[in-house]
Amino acid sequence: MCGITGYIGPKQAQPIVVSGLRCLEYRGYDSAGIAVWDGRHIRLRRAVGNLANLERLLKKKPLKGTLGIGHTRWATHGRPSEENAHPHLTEDIALVHNGIVENYMELRRRVLKAGRRLKSETDTEILAHLIQMEINHGKKPFHAIRSALKDVTGSYAVIVLCRLTPDRLFVARQGSPLLIGCGESEHFIASDIPALLSHTRHIVSLRDGDVAAVTREDYEIIDLSGEKRDRRPETIEWSATAAEKAGFKHFMLKEIFEQPHAIRDTLRGRIFPAEARISLDGAEDKLKKVFEHLRQITIVACGTSYHAALAGEYLLGDMCSLPVVVDTASEYRYRNYFTDPNGLTVAISQSGETADTLAAVKMAKKNGSPVLAISNIMGSSIVREADASILTRAGLEIGVASTKAFTTQLTVLCFLGLYWAKLHGKISKRDFKIISEKLLELPRQVQSILKRSDEIKEIARHFRRSEGFLFLGRGANYPIALEGALKLKEISYQWAEGFPAGEMKHGPIALIDRGTPVVVLAPDDPRTYQKTISNIEEVRARHATVIALATAGDKKIGQLADHVIYIPRTTWFLTPILMAVPLQLFAYHLAELRGKSIDQPRNLAKSVTVE
Ligand code: M6R
Repeated sequence: MCGITGYIGPKQAQPIVVSGLRCLEYRGYDSAGIAVWDGRHIRLRRAVGNLANLERLLKKKPLKGTLGIGHTRWATHGRPSEENAHPHLTEDIALVHNGIVENYMELRRRVLKAGRRLKSETDTEILAHLIQMEINHGKKPFHAIRSALKDVTGSYAVIVLCRLTPDRLFVARQGSPLLIGCGESEHFIASDIPALLSHTRHIVSLRDGDVAAVTREDYEIIDLSGEKRDRRPETIEWSATAAEKAGFKHFMLKEIFEQPHAIRDTLRGRIFPAEARISLDGAEDKLKKVFEHLRQITIVACGTSYHAALAGEYLLGDMCSLPVVVDTASEYRYRNYFTDPNGLTVAISQSGETADTLAAVKMAKKNGSPVLAISNIMGSSIVREADASILTRAGLEIGVASTKAFTTQLTVLCFLGLYWAKLHGKISKRDFKIISEKLLELPRQVQSILKRSDEIKEIARHFRRSEGFLFLGRGANYPIALEGALKLKEISYQWAEGFPAGEMKHGPIALIDRGTPVVVLAPDDPRTYQKTISNIEEVRARHATVIALATAGDKKIGQLADHVIYIPRTTWFLTPILMAVPLQLFAYHLAELRGKSIDQPRNLAKSVTVE
């Protein structure tokens, strides 16, 4: 939610800041702005709407200078307008902010009482004034920022450019991500890695409470009480090309097609069928006792990651015979769950920065539960907060609609289930071998589904004008039905609801009219297949149009459904991963045929760092 960037070095700041914003535009596109120090003044340009509008303005009125900050906005306080666009200025500083100031009303009163005039409706402008007031009381900028932020509750990542100290930028973080990229006599600041990758792979992840002064050559970090903090750069493995579309029309499509590779990376060095062994990158050592005495699992997550968690409920529950409780992180936080002394909380998050999931992790820890994180981002807040982590290794995911992060999360849950099942003697050696070998076949099987992309596009074409869709699944494929519906809602803006197929007759069947598209996930799992076929008959009897996802070789379904998309045969345990892929393609093609903004869907941001 909002992306911020900064540059200090020998080069012109404007192109660097703007290209950083381009990489962060997935975080918000309600307005964009930039401030540059020209040697005498802080110069400002802001424009409503996406970055292209700001770029047009900068073409007419470029900014010169080697120190700059920028912002792309996802509106929280105040409508999208030029006045509400960042950076916000006071007499000495320009400030950009990502986050939400929760005690905004109280701070606003304080600022107004001091006689200061506000020009916007934002919480961010209040921050700028609080800092300015500290400067006016004689504090040096670094300490003025520290003092002002001490009174702020909520979340922030800020970059401050101060005309009194034009040899440095100041940054601070609490609850919202912020990174410093280290170059040769230059530093880059950004909310997320993609904005840094074309400049450097040496990256310092700021932690909550960090306040830093960043010069061309160096950076100094203190905490809010003024104590020094030591943060060293880490080297990120992703290459700059990861942030490019590589010939694909959209990042989402590129990322869908990257899944064979991503899943292969997820499995690499972790599954050893011949030795009946699974390696969890050291998480098994860090949580040895917890794993050995495991009696209950709670999984928390949001959005697509929550759907992976729901699939985990079936996969882990069935495979390990353990009770699994799943909750959306935003709900979990306000419940009083029983904490089993032999329980484990698993937090799933692509970004590792989702505010609700992070808060749930902190709450679980406070309640005495050990936490295992499943995340795509090494060093992210959730990974750092957890007791141990397993990285999904999906690679950089830029498309707002999550795809490869989801299938790699499911892959991790599958081998985690296998690991625990073996540890607790819940699986025979033979079954362990069969399933682990099937896991290793996944990349090839996903590849074969991707070859059907055009076929899926042709099916999607029939539904360009459909108003509402139902997605039905049973067992571990019910969460995949939810995910299929979410993908469609997110990028195609068509109403779509997911249901357990057996629940249809308890209410949702009333929605079915002549031609209502019903997507049915019907793998040949002996436990659910016949019942799902009956559900298809039920909706057909109400004149629905059925799009079935079935196992290759299933002839029966071809006679029942209007359209069939086949997935390769695998064990029941892995069908959710294969089922997810055609649903992503279906949503993508529909959105594309309807001319929607696929990588920047309305109202959405990739990483939700506000609660
Ligand atoms: O980074 P996270 O996995 O924690 O993000 C959670 C959700 O915000 C995210 O999955 C969201 O639902 C995506 N837009 C899904 O496509």
